[in-house]
Amino acid sequence: PHALFDPQRRERPVEHDGMIPAMLISAYGVGRESLMDRSLSRNFDDAAPENPVIANVRRLNAAMAAEFGKHDSMLTLDDPDHGRVRGIVAEAFLKRAAGAQGLVAQIIDAQIDALAGRETFDAVNDYAARIPIQVLGTILGSPPEMFESLKVWTEAGQLAFDPTKSAEQEKLALDGRRGILSHFKELMEARRAAPQDDLVSDLLAAQANGAPIDDNEILFNLFALLVAGHLTTADLIGNGIYLLLTHDEARQAILADPKLITGAVEEILRYEPPISFSARFAKADGKAGGCPYHKGDALVVSLISANRDEDRIDDPHRFDITRRPNPHLSFGAGAHICVGAPLARIEGQTAILKLLQRFPHLRKVDDSPPDWRVVPGVRGLAKLDVITE
Ligand code: HEM
Repeated sequence: PHALFDPQRRERPVEHDGMIPAMLISAYGVGRESLMDRSLSRNFDDAAPENPVIANVRRLNAAMAAEFGKHDSMLTLDDPDHGRVRGIVAEAFLKRAAGAQGLVAQIIDAQIDALAGRETFDAVNDYAARIPIQVLGTILGSPPEMFESLKVWTEAGQLAFDPTKSAEQEKLALDGRRGILSHFKELMEARRAAPQDDLVSDLLAAQANGAPIDDNEILFNLFALLVAGHLTTADLIGNGIYLLLTHDEARQAILADPKLITGAVEEILRYEPPISFSARFAKADGKAGGCPYHKGDALVVSLISANRDEDRIDDPHRFDITRRPNPHLSFGAGAHICVGAPLARIEGQTAILKLLQRFPHLRKVDDSPPDWRVVPGVRGLAKLDVITE
């Protein structure tokens, strides 16, 4: 289906939507430039209010701000605040991520052991979607009994981006966000009183040592790490298992030479990016790829399309785990490039390789087409039923 972008990208690589104040960018070059353009904003306040997706997110953010303070995570801040906050959070987070290999392997081994003896299972819901929440929960400092709630709340919160959601779903999205923020608020209080070996304590210690970050910024960055890191990584693992079960040559090559998993994960990211779009907002009138935009317009870069741009990627519709270089945009680009990429890569490589090694005869139960979950922006499988023998 990603080939559907081909005519659009060739004929209208940058196109203004006639209906809403947004521009779709489907070409790699202009897409990457826009993501790197520091004159564009990530702050929803810079977006035209009549954009339905934005209106929807703003309403949720306003409700949360009334209870917890303004959404000051690196996801939505611009410079100079973005650089200041991202610097502090990324330093602490990346230190933890760099030491996480053992933790990740242990969580994945336990998850695979739990599948022992089963003839069939759902590789998404019984495996892929269970891993990132345990890794993130442990790194951040949440107690294990909270992991299931954090998972459910994060997935409900994702509905925030769906402008067509029902009133009931809106309530679920709000309650999900509220649950996560209340949890991290309590965790910050507990760790301030008694620090532990976790990221919450690291950030509070940095703050106590003079790092310029306030409580509200710590709270919303913990929230951002969880919501940006759960479903995305689960989808990387699920999409990867699916792609390797449907490309047997690639799977056999990895089983014969496990080092190939590194390039395979990059190709999985390129071929089925967990995040489909990344957006910026225009603070003034301007042009992208020759196409004029207005102040308040959203510049929406299709990562799916950019990753299949034949001007940048040879034979882009071919799944090739040995592709080198592989300059996919699945982690974005520029100042907001994914801060969790190193952890996502460790989790993706370990989870996919260990499952294939443990079940070398793993296959899909039938030839039915993949069951893509319909949540705007985040693309992964709703389920993937597999047989172990
Ligand atoms: C930003 C993708 C995993 C945390 C982003 C962006 C993308 C992305 C596309 C936006 C970049 C831009 O707009 O230029 C992914 C994918 C993942 C993944 C595909 C998994 C395969 C993670 C993990 C974490 C994380 C595991 C953390 C635990 C973040 C944060 C940002 C971000 C905090 C915002 C950075 C900023 O605005 O400065 N990610 N991500 N992500 N990601 Fe990830």
